[in-house]
Amino acid sequence: MGDNAPIADPEIKYTQIFINNEFVKSVSGKTFPTNNPCTGEPIVQIQEGDKADVDKAVSAAKAAFKLGSPWRRMDASQRGRLLNKLADTIERDGRQLASLETLDNGKPFGYAFNFDLVFAIKVLRYYAGWADKIVGQTIPSDGDFFTYTRHEPIGVCGQIIPWNFPLLMMSWKIAPALACGNTLVLKPAEQTPLTALFVCALVKEVGFPPGVVNVVPGYGPTAGAAISNHMDVDKIAFTGSTEVGRLILEAAGKSNLKEVSLELGGKSPNIIFADADLADAVEWSHNALFANSGQACSAGSRTYVEESIYEEFVKRSVERAKTRKIGNPLDADTESGPQIDEEQFNKILELIKSGEEEGAKMHCGGKRFGDKGYFIESTVFSDVTDDMRIAREEIFGPVMQIIKFKDIDEVIPRANDTSYGLAAAVFTKDINKAITIANSVQAGSVFVNCYNSLSANTPFGGFKESGIGRELGSYGIEHYSEVKTVTIKIPQKNS
Ligand code: NAI
Ligand code: MG
Repeated sequence: MGDNAPIADPEIKYTQIFINNEFVKSVSGKTFPTNNPCTGEPIVQIQEGDKADVDKAVSAAKAAFKLGSPWRRMDASQRGRLLNKLADTIERDGRQLASLETLDNGKPFGYAFNFDLVFAIKVLRYYAGWADKIVGQTIPSDGDFFTYTRHEPIGVCGQIIPWNFPLLMMSWKIAPALACGNTLVLKPAEQTPLTALFVCALVKEVGFPPGVVNVVPGYGPTAGAAISNHMDVDKIAFTGSTEVGRLILEAAGKSNLKEVSLELGGKSPNIIFADADLADAVEWSHNALFANSGQACSAGSRTYVEESIYEEFVKRSVERAKTRKIGNPLDADTESGPQIDEEQFNKILELIKSGEEEGAKMHCGGKRFGDKGYFIESTVFSDVTDDMRIAREEIFGPVMQIIKFKDIDEVIPRANDTSYGLAAAVFTKDINKAITIANSVQAGSVFVNCYNSLSANTPFGGFKESGIGRELGSYGIEHYSEVKTVTIKIPQKNS
């Protein structure tokens, strides 16, 4: 790995709240620990933001957004340049950032480096390119009028992100917001504040004006709720649980009707037909579920397999899960690290128990792995039925459900019988089956013969209770701009 080897004990320089391009202490004087999920032990104390700190951050963001401010006067091309420079410095410090991510989140370093970091850089560069290409329309309106639209920034954006992809989720949030010319207040998850705070130092280094990017670490019900209820926050973007998504929407409704985009939970169907390349389907389906220790909103968490290949598919999936290497995320061959915290660890073990009690057949796993931290063995259930809790609830852990189906007509309504609608996949060599599934499933992303193959320029988001709006691609721009229609009376023609 050479230059890309993990740093086992990365230096932690930034633990304070970032407002107006300065690192500051919390108003209350309180701090909170961020823990190492491999051990459960605290890594470092972080300044704990709550309402008073959010108020300060929002004021800074509001001032930075004022007409005539350096940020509002900045050329769009220069905004793009700053985003590119931010991407460059993140790339320069990639080893440090990926090492911090591994320490704070527990994910394997190779994954933090090659997936999270690389993807975050791509997202920043993608939206850097957008900054000076966000254009309106000229419209031939009736009468003696000239009409055009301006796509203006919305204002102060509140952004609340989860712990499963901390740096990556930050990039998904800040890149389109900044490309469009907004200012922002971001709250990282309390479990994983380290990479967001490191990026703040880079934001300052590359020359974003003070107040454009503000980051307030803290807890959801305090700092998070202060953002979502704030009268001067013009838009809120949230990624996390459906439960908290509802609270965000409610807070927006009760305060200033701020614009809301939500990326929430999922229980995504992954449908394997008998004609699929079996080895390929087994490997993709394994990773669709176990990647990031199962902690992905778009995980393929209901694996539907056609009757005639069911037994063989289960057998191979169990063999594959048994070989999955769990352990120290700094080791190059580790495929899965720990779950993020005790709450998730307990939730997952409880759901595994419910699966056994409700009659599913457990082939492997089911227990804690090792004797410290929050590791859980790779677990595979077969004989799962649609009504079981493990087939209905988001587990967010390394627990695979393999469910039998008869034919395409039967599986479509079953796949759609969920309140979620984030992703879906189909494995088949029959183009007609692939297209029928792609057209029939209620999901924001459908993968054919692949899974979770995301890209900075392709939209991502949910149908139904999986969310509101789309991130990434050109669609992501729409959620960070307001459309203004300007109509000008023009003189009547004489000739
Ligand atoms: P969560 O939704 O509570 O946390 C996500 C973010 O929301 C964090 O930054 C948190 O501090 C913040 N938050 C919490 N309560 C808030 C409130 N009242 N107002 C404003 N912000 C608030 O998710 P949690 O508790 O970490 O995980 C619970 C479950 O949610 C997981 O088991 C999983 O099923 C799901 N989840 C889904 C994610 C996704 O990518 N869609 C990411 C994380 C969790
Ligand atoms: Mg929560």
